[in-house]
Amino acid sequence: MSARRFRSLDLIATAVVILDQGLRVHHINQPAEALFGVSSRQLEGACLMDVLEVAPEVEQMLREASEQLFESKRQQCDWPLAMRGPVEFDATVTVHPEEEGLMLSLELREIAQQRKADREVHQADLTHANKEMLRNLAHEIKNPLGGVRGAAQLLDRELPSDELREYTQVIIKEADRLQGLVDQMLAPHRRLRVMESVNIHEVCERVRSLMLAEFTSGLVIRRDYDISIPEIRGDREQLIQVVLNVVRNAAEALHGEGEVVLRSRVSRQVTIAKKRYRLALDLHVIDNGPGIPEELRERVFYPLVTGRAQGHGLGLTLAQSYVHQHGGVIDVESRPGYTDFLIRIPIETERLAS
Ligand SMILES: Nc1ncnc2c1ncn2[C@@H]1O[C@H](COP(=O)(O)OP(=O)(O)O)[C@@H](O)[C@H]1O
Ligand SMILES: [Mg+2]
Repeated sequence: MSARRFRSLDLIATAVVILDQGLRVHHINQPAEALFGVSSRQLEGACLMDVLEVAPEVEQMLREASEQLFESKRQQCDWPLAMRGPVEFDATVTVHPEEEGLMLSLELREIAQQRKADREVHQADLTHANKEMLRNLAHEIKNPLGGVRGAAQLLDRELPSDELREYTQVIIKEADRLQGLVDQMLAPHRRLRVMESVNIHEVCERVRSLMLAEFTSGLVIRRDYDISIPEIRGDREQLIQVVLNVVRNAAEALHGEGEVVLRSRVSRQVTIAKKRYRLALDLHVIDNGPGIPEELRERVFYPLVTGRAQGHGLGLTLAQSYVHQHGGVIDVESRPGYTDFLIRIPIETERLAS
């Protein structure tokens, strides 16, 4: 483990201790120093158990790790801290075979803090009020942005050299990017929904031809349709946008080289948002790309979450909002080589006369 890797350990909030096979402290990061109230100088080179009171479960895990009885193990423990008394931790011990010999890492996450982090993630879920705020913000940005772009364009014409014009071009390009962003933020509310009978396969075909026109080289979009599926009631334009956003993400993840499958099926007796439906349409958009980056997996439907430099992080938010307006749900399962977005929309069946 290089010095650089150690320095980067100081940047993370989790307390980390690196030990050698003899359970001597090799490195301790800043959060761990703060936790134990000791400096790395006092600890490094010493056997951990000699200088600190260690929770018995953790000591046990470390001893097992030094004998390579496992690769990685995680356990909750009560750790008696000199300054605070016993504190509940989630402790993970991992064995790292390194050039200089076997190394062990001990990571400690305070459980109370972990719970707090979980709550925060939960609260990040957008409420209606937040959406309203986002929309107002978009309006506020839109007008001055037009002014900024216009002024940059005027300036661009007056500038004497191409070298200086590079700067105005940056302003113009970035203004255009922001313009695209606010347009998308405002888009869901631009027009009223038009409900009609929609054939989902027509929607898929439309998206398919749009995407094949955009990604001309190695993109394959395979159809796996159940053509017996009845028409659904919905807004055709919105449904095209939903499928387009999901398929476009797949094509982008594939860098235009790979396969997307559009699979339609019927599900029976499904529950969506506590309501039971006799029939629902399941449209799967499956790709064999790299998968959603792990750190984004839980949040891809949140606004402004993007894994791409040029992304806005609104495509899936918009898709989800449209699917909800159809009484449906959208969900995803993703791992490297396989990503499956499921768009599930209830199929209205004839109401029985009462
Ligand atoms: N099929 C997919 N494969 C891999 N990553 C995906 C896929 N679909 C979505 N993502 C990830 O989710 C992010 C959010 O998507 P989206 O809301 O459409 O915003 P944007 O496309 O502007 O980034 C993408 O940037 C990408 O990192
Ligand atoms: Mg997108």
